[in-house]
Amino acid sequence: MADIESLGDLHGKRVLVRSDLNVPLEGSTITDDGRIRASVPTIRALADAGARVVVTAHLGRPKGVPDPAYSLAPVAARLGELLGADVAFATDTVGASASETVAGLADGEVAVLENVRFNAGETSKDDEGRMAFASELAKLADAFVSDGFGVVHRKQASVYDVALQLPSAMGGLVSAEIEVLRRLTHEPARPYVVVLGGSKVSDKLGVIDNLLGKADTLLIGGGMVFTFLAAQGHEVGKSLLEHDQLDTCRDYLRRAEESGVRIVLPTDIVVDTAFPSGDREPEPRVVAADAIPADCLGLDIGPDSAAAFADAVAQGRTVFWNGPMGVFETDAFAAGTRAVAEALTRVDGLSVVGGGDSAAAVRTLGFDEAAFGHISTGGGASLEYLEGKELPGIAVLERQGSLS
Ligand code: 3PG
Ligand code: MG
Repeated sequence: MADIESLGDLHGKRVLVRSDLNVPLEGSTITDDGRIRASVPTIRALADAGARVVVTAHLGRPKGVPDPAYSLAPVAARLGELLGADVAFATDTVGASASETVAGLADGEVAVLENVRFNAGETSKDDEGRMAFASELAKLADAFVSDGFGVVHRKQASVYDVALQLPSAMGGLVSAEIEVLRRLTHEPARPYVVVLGGSKVSDKLGVIDNLLGKADTLLIGGGMVFTFLAAQGHEVGKSLLEHDQLDTCRDYLRRAEESGVRIVLPTDIVVDTAFPSGDREPEPRVVAADAIPADCLGLDIGPDSAAAFADAVAQGRTVFWNGPMGVFETDAFAAGTRAVAEALTRVDGLSVVGGGDSAAAVRTLGFDEAAFGHISTGGGASLEYLEGKELPGIAVLERQGSLS
């Protein structure tokens, strides 16, 4: 597929780069800058090639209008620090500030445009609305580089439509991510172990469906465990529960049995009477998974489960992990996530951490990133790839590539 070289001599050319700079913030403090760091090599390569680099990205899910809480200003500042160069910042995306900022760039300089989701056209469901906004973006550049892996599953103007309007190429981050995911889907070394966590079963339906035919072992933790436990007839107290997914979970458990895929659920759970908040000290308690008290909610997998999950992970030759095992942001409920992360570092084979939350978890828990085979910048995007779905942001580049 067309890479940056295919765009020819970039000296003096304005290149629009879609990056995924959607990082967790507390106020204006970035709590994990992994996605910004992952975006640097492509931006730097373009600047080194003499391009005038215009970065477009989103932060959070603002409602199509400017909202200072979601400004990319702190992110642009951090990008400048990481690049070791001044980064200009436009206070709008396609307005007067953007035009002036881009016009002011010298060869090899970088600008960041304000949050692309401050514009309703970006996420419009209406093709024409998106296309109109994309053409505004396209006016700012001579070529487009798609490097926001975390958003390639979104059919949005700055990911999809703009690629129809400019000579386009795939950035190095997106191609590296796709390369790893290909290894997971094409003849993975066995055992192939998948660990799924996070809060909602409904987010993971497609991937579970697909993995039932591919993985050897599926370990399930996180908030979605309680819907599985309830599907087996257990009481789950005040734990997160998706009533409308009970039948689906029963169906998965039955199909797993038929197909010989091992679905492993936790046998013990760390509970408390309330979700952690600043107002009270957590009072964690370990109970059997089939004996969660009515006044409690599950907040992590228990120590026996953590040990069993870690064993299964460490035996895998191909391991993919998406979604924390518990509320790892609170120490008292971090042990399950920590155990899974630690086991991934011991895998003799390919270990992949997929997703913004799990990637942030391994870094906030203090693991060395180099100990993992690959830490993906995309959660939803990598899950949709594993589901076998077409990713709009990739498909559009493939179609362009096959035309040229
Ligand atoms: C992410 O954080 O998963 C990506 O940046 C995509 O964000 P979105 O889910 O709001 O589209
Ligand atoms: Mg997401």
